Amino acid sequence: MRAISIIKSEHKNLGAILYSLDKLIEEIDSGKQPDFSIFHGLFTYLDRFLDRYHHPKENHHLFPKLLLRAPETESLVRELGQQHIEGEILFVGMLKALSAYEFSGAQEFPHFRDSVTSYTEFERKHAQKEEDEVLTRAREVLEPSDWDEIDAAFDANEDPLFGDKWNNEFSDLLDRLINRLPAPLGLGDDWK
Ligand SMILES: [Fe+2]
Ligand SMILES: [Fe+2]
Repeated sequence: MRAISIIKSEHKNLGAILYSLDKLIEEIDSGKQPDFSIFHGLFTYLDRFLDRYHHPKENHHLFPKLLLRAPETESLVRELGQQHIEGEILFVGMLKALSAYEFSGAQEFPHFRDSVTSYTEFERKHAQKEEDEVLTRAREVLEPSDWDEIDAAFDANEDPLFGDKWNNEFSDLLDRLINRLPAPLGLGDDWK
């Protein structure tokens, strides 16, 4: 069942990124100049993390096993899979809004702010639903052999920002975020 703690810890890390986005938006709202490169870094990380690391764990391993052992969860699994697609649509909207804001200036900020807020709220609710409904049920119905398979698949797939391999393209982004953001996520505080 190591997979459960991996999913939870990835949700926690995702939560830290969503929180950072909200904080950066608040800063601009209160008059600070935007740092577009931080937004680009965060969006690149989010895209990579969800598309290559997090969603495959759920779509290809956890959800199918849950469906196999608890067929009554079909509509839940379908809804959550659909939310992965909706999240991507919201993500692309946010990316376009960033581009417009960077190109056209302050008049585009309200649209960018709203698109970020919609995205962060959506992803938070999605992760909470997975924890409350999928992880709880999976813990009840999956067999030890299911967990062995899922755990093995999860072990081969590590978060590029918060994982142990710190010397990568995202480590500079993480340093910049920690140095820039206020508590509780900023300098001196625990991100994990
Ligand atoms: Fe998900
Ligand atoms: Fe998730």
